[in-house]
Amino acid sequence: MSTKVGFFPGAGGRNDHSLEPGRLQEALETTAATLGQAPDVVFLHNPERSLGDLEPAHAADRLAAAAGVLTDAVAAGLCRSWGISTWNPQPVLAAAIAAGPRGLVRPWCLMHRAGILVPARVLDAIDDLAGCLEVETERRWGMSPFGGDTGDSVWGTLALRPFMAAGEECSTAAAAFRLAFALPPVGRVAVGTNRPEHLADLVRALDLGVDGHNVERYRDMLARRQAHAAG
Ligand SMILES: NC(=O)c1ccc[n+]([C@@H]2O[C@H](COP(=O)([O-])OP(=O)(O)OC[C@H]3O[C@@H](n4cnc5c(N)ncnc54)[C@H](OP(=O)(O)O)[C@@H]3O)[C@@H](O)[C@H]2O)c1
Repeated sequence: MSTKVGFFPGAGGRNDHSLEPGRLQEALETTAATLGQAPDVVFLHNPERSLGDLEPAHAADRLAAAAGVLTDAVAAGLCRSWGISTWNPQPVLAAAIAAGPRGLVRPWCLMHRAGILVPARVLDAIDDLAGCLEVETERRWGMSPFGGDTGDSVWGTLALRPFMAAGEECSTAAAAFRLAFALPPVGRVAVGTNRPEHLADLVRALDLGVDGHNVERYRDMLARRQAHAAG
């Protein structure tokens, strides 16, 4: 069981983001009490929302303080482990680099976007962030493999067969879900569904083979395009 802390009810029905230690602590206590048990993982939800406008040293301090609250929550039995979940990883990476190897308690796991829709700059930043935080592949969780909506017209235009191992027959959704474990390599993928038959498809997709060579070629192509755009 996993959940996240970082967003709080704000004025006018808005959700405010905060890394303020007191608010995080209260959210952790409320979560464990409401669930009636300590979650296996609590993620710090999109910390970039509160770090993006700060100088790197200040952002490092803010992130380190939040990491301290989550670490203490594990020690206090409010959760079994903690992680960082990020949609736009660049500000989190900048803060982690500014904190340095001893300035920040390392999270046990890292959740980030995964799959064919993830832009090259995000793929590069999440790999760098995982390296900086020393989170190995098995402890990386991909999320939002369909970008939130398989009804989007992009799914009607994508041909994912070249990424699958020879002879694999599957739907585009199944291929996209399986690919999310490889782009970039992660140990788990958080996916949303309200339909049991979709869940069954997703479970079956776990057994599909991927063409690792073509996945690597695709990442090389993205990296070349990214370098070209940057320079
Ligand atoms: N940190 C952030 O800012 C952020 C933002 C978004 C998501 N997330 C994380 O990512 C997780 C998943 O994200 P998400 O639910 O927004 O997006 P998603 O998993 O990319 O897409 C969910 C959509 O895919 C459809 N779907 C699932 N399986 C399918 C199948 N086999 N065939 C066809 N359609 C299928 C679902 O429709 P049905 O319901 O009809 O199956 C649903 O509309 C969330 O639980 C959350 O943890 C984080």
